[in-house]
Amino acid sequence: MNAKIIGTGWQLPAYEADNDYLSTLVETSDEWITERTGIRKRHLAKEETTTSLAAGAAKKALADAGLPAEEIDLLIVATITSDTVTPSTACRVQAELGAVHAVAFDINAACSGFLYAVHMADAFIKSGVYRKALLIGAETLSKLVDWTDRGTCVLFGDGAGAAVLAASDQGGIAAQSLGSNGSKWEVLSCMGRPNGNPVCREQREPGYLQMNGQEVFKFAVKTVPLCIEDALEKAGLSPDDIDHFLLHQANKRIIQSVAKRLKQPEEKFPMNIGQCANTSAASLPILLAQMKEQGRLHPGEKLVLSGFGAGLTWGACVMEW
Ligand code: UT7
Repeated sequence: MNAKIIGTGWQLPAYEADNDYLSTLVETSDEWITERTGIRKRHLAKEETTTSLAAGAAKKALADAGLPAEEIDLLIVATITSDTVTPSTACRVQAELGAVHAVAFDINAACSGFLYAVHMADAFIKSGVYRKALLIGAETLSKLVDWTDRGTCVLFGDGAGAAVLAASDQGGIAAQSLGSNGSKWEVLSCMGRPNGNPVCREQREPGYLQMNGQEVFKFAVKTVPLCIEDALEKAGLSPDDIDHFLLHQANKRIIQSVAKRLKQPEEKFPMNIGQCANTSAASLPILLAQMKEQGRLHPGEKLVLSGFGAGLTWGACVMEW
């Protein structure tokens, strides 16, 4: 039995901030942001929360799969922006959906989080422990961003995407390749709350997202093609066999570089970075769900999903739609 995606959904906050709006906050321009990243606008949470976006995307994914929430036995939310430190976003989404039979928990693997969730769900489904999983990538990165830092604040957006996976004897996930390198944790990080206990009394402000953009860029263009090739080799396929490469939407230039290294036409690499910016763990499931909604995915087609992010973490997944 393989794990196969049988439904998808996405949800973005209503408020849209274009590049011109950001140039009223920091010294930047539409031209710089568009040329260096491909981003034209992003959605920012005003009323929405990570939980509400996650639940919104999840409801659509369940409806798309034609499944009642009670049938889900595993519910994972990939996020680094949970509204509550505890309980998990997954438990709050479970309550909102009425997914009463699900084991629910969050995972933190930053922008690779959705792929890590797919990795876990695939193993659980293959082993027969669970049969139907709801996986959500949901973020409100806007609350971790330093809105005075032009090097990061222009890059990120808020949103959520979800996918329902079920055991199937046709198609589904064929192979995966994931990795982590904690020795590079400082190139992209966000410190937690300072410890105010009476013996420590840590003197610092709560953390904001900080990043060495060029280091992350170099890591991504080197590692993503390698892990895609590794996953393809495990699946017995070559890049030419793949219909769509869905890559984490962090920078258009990273995606173009990966296409070049894999010797594949850019048309095989769909992008929504122009409209959504980098939504971290939500980026891959949003792109997947939008493609499904637009009728761009057909049964039997072969897909690669691949991402990278803080940790450092990375991953690739090969599947038949
Ligand atoms: O999910 C994973 C998350 N992160 C990523 O994937 C990020 C990967 N890295 C990148 O996408 C790129 O490195 C960035 C988009 C972050 C930066 O692009 P870059 O081409 O690497 O620019 P840079 O950092 O080399 O900066 C070039 C110049 C600098 O000015 P000087 O020193 O040449 O005068 C920056 O200060 O651009 C300046 N700059 C900006 N200018 C206008 C940096 N940010 C901005 C900005 N607007 N927003």
